[in-house]
Amino acid sequence: MNPSSSNPKERFKYYGTPGKDFPRFDVDRPLPEEVEPTPRYEAHVGLQAFPTLPLIPVLGWAFSGLTKKLGFRSMAGPLLQTWMPANLSRLHPDKFSDEYFVERRLNGFNPGKLNRVEGKEWQYSVYYKTGRYQAEPGGLLPEYSEARFLLRDRALHVHSIKYCLKGQDITCFPTDGKSWEDAKYYFRSAEYVFQEIQSHLGRTHMNMDQYAMAFYRNIKKSPIRKLLWPHFEGLINIDKKGASLIIGGTGFIPEASALSADSVDGVLIEEIAMLSYHWSPAEQFLPDIIDNNHFDRAALAVWELLTKYVSDFCVNNQREIQNYWSEIEGMSEDLVTHSILKPEYGTLEIKNQEDLQQLCVYVLYHCIFFHSWVNNKQYEDGGDIEYAAIGLWDKEDPKYDPKIEQKRHDAQVKLMWILANVRYNPAIEFAPLPLKKLLWEYRDRIEPGIPLGWLMMSINI
Ligand SMILES: [Fe+2]
Repeated sequence: MNPSSSNPKERFKYYGTPGKDFPRFDVDRPLPEEVEPTPRYEAHVGLQAFPTLPLIPVLGWAFSGLTKKLGFRSMAGPLLQTWMPANLSRLHPDKFSDEYFVERRLNGFNPGKLNRVEGKEWQYSVYYKTGRYQAEPGGLLPEYSEARFLLRDRALHVHSIKYCLKGQDITCFPTDGKSWEDAKYYFRSAEYVFQEIQSHLGRTHMNMDQYAMAFYRNIKKSPIRKLLWPHFEGLINIDKKGASLIIGGTGFIPEASALSADSVDGVLIEEIAMLSYHWSPAEQFLPDIIDNNHFDRAALAVWELLTKYVSDFCVNNQREIQNYWSEIEGMSEDLVTHSILKPEYGTLEIKNQEDLQQLCVYVLYHCIFFHSWVNNKQYEDGGDIEYAAIGLWDKEDPKYDPKIEQKRHDAQVKLMWILANVRYNPAIEFAPLPLKKLLWEYRDRIEPGIPLGWLMMSINI
């Protein structure tokens, strides 16, 4: 009840019903003091959000002459998208090329989605089943969209895209001209929706929220507090803000995409119900050597270095961890009680030291690496409406309004800019020395998938 109560279970209260709602901090309650954002964080966010602010109300009073000369007046409106800083696709000589399409499926903002296929002409595919969610009237969302890829000489080449739109199944090939470009655009839009809800919000923000809650409520004296504390910084705060900004009735995703707020919640719940800390990137990496598969190389390298880091930490603190094992039991109980994990995926119970180490590696992997990847690359793909829009609207629908579409697209590029550019606490600057050293040692495998300096300590934006 009381945000300054001495009992952490009073300060950190779960939302909703245990086992039914996905476990998270109840955002209607005030933030406990220890998880409030630091002034440095707020200054950093302000600095990065600056280019997207409506500048006239802020600066017009003091610098009206200058702002007129510089044209700031037009920063909101039809020019906004072209005035925003260039993103990766705008900097590419041919962002619509098939080669770039393949490159982004491997290394773009929604990685790890390629599956090996047997008995077909193609060897890999990415499949998004969007039709189980309800699209708003006038929203264009394929029922499903599948991109297929050939494996030749350690490289992927796009073979075809099959999708279903307005009840019609369509298969397009790279020689199909405009229809082929449309198929790729629909695919990128479906991918974007799932990137935001499943990979970004589901797998990182909300998935980690359940571990942060169990941690804050139980771990007081165990050395695990020192290990995990810096990697949860800012998470509860941003999830509380994101609850209204990103999801919820007026959040960015329901507003800018063709999905309704309920559908967004449905996708989130389904995703979290499949996520367990008994997972590692070894379960998902591509079985063939593909020269520009930078994501898998980086993911496996980070998992390996974190395993070393956590293992060394636990060895060095073994006795103290055992002395305060009752706190780990409390954490385990909270995790299990509030989990919505489907039984076929096992349990979140922490039975022993081995489970605890696995949990810590899993948490660090998502807080440092996976969130940095899916969050910090958002502007690379989503900062250019021509390349990828989270929502597409049917121009033939009687309710179609180009002004509303424009507003939604503007909201997309502005939000992507802020989310991708707040880079608070790079791990290579702020991590404990042993972790810094490991990151540096493994840098050749982490880059070129993601620059080392893009890996942050925690999920804070
Ligand atoms: Fe994020």
